Amino acid sequence: MEYDTLFLIKPNVTSRRKIGEILQIVEKNGFSIEMLRMFQMDMAIAEKFYAEHKEKSFYHKLIDFMTSGKTVAAVLHRTNAVPVLRELIGNTDFRQARVGTIRFLYADSITRNAVHASDSIESAQREIGIIFPDYIK
Ligand code: CMP
Repeated sequence: MEYDTLFLIKPNVTSRRKIGEILQIVEKNGFSIEMLRMFQMDMAIAEKFYAEHKEKSFYHKLIDFMTSGKTVAAVLHRTNAVPVLRELIGNTDFRQARVGTIRFLYADSITRNAVHASDSIESAQREIGIIFPDYIK
């Protein structure tokens, strides 16, 4: 089944001029970029986006980091987009990320883990709605 997922390139990578390399990796793996946006998250967007983590110990660190610099957001389209992109980015904890994954290559810490990808089709729809409210499939 072909569908969309949401991908973020986080501030620890956008500030290092690695945006092109990472977009090249996703395109080489068969994803089409349907929407693309570079912006700095404000508190309201970051809190809405990460609402499910509100009670977690790492929440404030995460919000501080995500609002600290520019993020690149993309709607990516492919067959089995959610599991394929999750496999390509690697484990949330970069120390456990498979060799060659985006997080293995670009993460600095568990928080500064380079990229985000939606974990389900439902999450993808919710996250796309937050970042690209005027996107029509
Ligand atoms: P992301 O895939 O964007 O989803 C939640 C984010 O919280 C995660 O990537 C990390 O950036 C951050 N985070 C920080 N600490 C942890 C942790 N211990 N477990 C999971 N996520 C964490």
